[in-house]
Amino acid sequence: MGKWKLRPEKVSWREEAKKRVALEAVKHLQDDFIVGLGSGSTAAHVIQEIGRQILKAGLRVLGVPTSSQAMMLAVRSGIPLTTLDEYPSLDLAIDGADQIDKKLDMIKGGGGAMTREKIVASAAKQFIIVADETKLVDKLGTNCRVPVEVLPFALATATASIKELGGKPLLRESGRKVGAVVTDNGNYIVDIDFGPMKDTEELNRRLKLIPGVVETGLFIKMADIVYLGKPDGIIRLER
Ligand code: 5RP
Repeated sequence: MGKWKLRPEKVSWREEAKKRVALEAVKHLQDDFIVGLGSGSTAAHVIQEIGRQILKAGLRVLGVPTSSQAMMLAVRSGIPLTTLDEYPSLDLAIDGADQIDKKLDMIKGGGGAMTREKIVASAAKQFIIVADETKLVDKLGTNCRVPVEVLPFALATATASIKELGGKPLLRESGRKVGAVVTDNGNYIVDIDFGPMKDTEELNRRLKLIPGVVETGLFIKMADIVYLGKPDGIIRLER
């Protein structure tokens, strides 16, 4: 086979949609902004686009990464980084999501980064979510587990308490290494099946009261704007 491919590789509409919403979200950036950099495949497009804007248009921003993935990609993309210690208040954070409902509440943590993602989002004056439209659901928890980050010391006790709340917990196992996934904070992740959830705010409160639960993937009343990519455009939702 020569170097020419007979058929160009087909890029899925979801991948195109993710890129489109990433470009839209990056338009919110202004010079001298301190921006939270999210994790996951859609946030990766955001990070790469910020890098391009720095290179091509001389955009002047500093980034605060939410994970080692975001940190490494930001470095490769040429985004100068800072920390919450230096800037406890951010102008903007942009991140992805696993499920979003019409109130703009969300499940996050598919990539296991929800603790830092939530800290960074809560420090930001504006929180923008980018995703493809398949993430929009009527009820959070429909075919999607809620990840919680748990201290290894508390795994058994926290798991028992999660069952008392009616959830079916599953320790997240690594695909590429034996044993449990260990987060950037040195903890485990328990993915909980609650089924479609009614009162996510109350559930979040109860989960956070369990000793050893560091953070949950329920992001309630946090997103300001959601950009959802469709096969043929973008939907903008606002809270
Ligand atoms: C990581 C996250 C991600 O933002 C979420 O999993 C969405 O990822 P993707 O854009 O790859 O679908 O919360 O912890």
